[in-house]
Amino acid sequence: MRKIYFDHSATTPVDNRVWLKMKPFYLKNYGNAGSIHSFGQQALKAVEESRKTVADFLNCFGEEIYFTSGATEANNLALGGVFRTVQKKWRNPHIIISKIEHPSVLGPAAELKKQGAQISFLEVTNKGLVRPEELKKLIRKNTVLVSVMYVNNEIGTIQPIARIGKILGQLNKKRDDKIYFHTDAVQAANYCDLDVNKLKVDLLTLSGHKIYGPKGIGVLYVKKGTVLAALEFGGHQERGLRPGTQNVPGIAGLAEAVRQIRKNKKNNRKIKQLRDYLIKGILKIPQSQLNGDLAARIPSNINVTFKNAEGESILMLLDIAGIAVSTGSACSSGSLEPSHVLTAIGVPKEMSHGSLRITLGKYNTKKEADKLLLILPEIISNLRKMSPYK
Ligand SMILES: Cc1ncc(COP(=O)(O)O)c(C=O)c1O
Repeated sequence: MRKIYFDHSATTPVDNRVWLKMKPFYLKNYGNAGSIHSFGQQALKAVEESRKTVADFLNCFGEEIYFTSGATEANNLALGGVFRTVQKKWRNPHIIISKIEHPSVLGPAAELKKQGAQISFLEVTNKGLVRPEELKKLIRKNTVLVSVMYVNNEIGTIQPIARIGKILGQLNKKRDDKIYFHTDAVQAANYCDLDVNKLKVDLLTLSGHKIYGPKGIGVLYVKKGTVLAALEFGGHQERGLRPGTQNVPGIAGLAEAVRQIRKNKKNNRKIKQLRDYLIKGILKIPQSQLNGDLAARIPSNINVTFKNAEGESILMLLDIAGIAVSTGSACSSGSLEPSHVLTAIGVPKEMSHGSLRITLGKYNTKKEADKLLLILPEIISNLRKMSPYK
């Protein structure tokens, strides 16, 4: 049985061109980028060329790109780095994040709260979008950072980052202390414009394994003039902001993945067509609903809720049939708490347990979509027959 993968927001396969770029850095040119000999110099050259490729992608300078071990580390560095820097001035600096951030932003924010930070949450509409005007109301004298994700990982909604950037830019002109703006652009990188000058962000996060690149590599863009304190110590790499031997194959792979995004924009149209075809078919299932706005959404994301059918059970039965998807709830983490994202957009608790996230990628086909459309209605119908809540 050929397995079908519909979980590209969790991770993507590595593009073969990315793998071919990485391979020599494991087998042949395996030098440490910090070494002086020719092995090291070859590795260093690859790191610096990759930095330039990523900088071109974001329309910024190479010196503004810092390689990390992934987006989780980059998000921790963005929030923690600003917090540490401003602590000299503010005992209780104020940070604003959206209510639907990924745990890699929610987690550090909760930790910084323990260390004295004040945290405010920017609400989202029932379509899953933040309202920039609402942000203005949350700003305080001691606000130091706003972090709003570019694209939500569960419902795929695209947030108005450039508008928020503009608002903060105008506010900053009238303030003594700058409010920094961070966006987690992990889920946006395949589909959205990441020009940091247009977005007017100071900090931006990327991850390799969501863009057909390797796992364990990420990027933090830090705009020139942003003073960010290091959270780790013991090395000179990445100008001391992220010390530790650089992951040369990972860095070269991430850069190749970025190059492929720029070359293959036509994939997005194909993915969107397949996504819309699937949504149409899935919503024929009685008592189903799409979560999150359809128009302001990346082409790859479907998040649906089925009344009286448990997401985990659907996932398991689809897996047995050879189709990989994800639930829209947080049950996979062992908790029975519903997804914080679905809760934030007003999906009732009992409904959000019946949610499924289907995320498409560039290698998916119509034949695969048809198989899902054939199997899913039957699974839901069978589960409903067994459900005590009919
Ligand atoms: C929006 C978002 N941010 C951050 C991350 C964490 O990325 P990484 O696995 O590179 O740490 C993910 C991964 O699921 C994500 O979807």
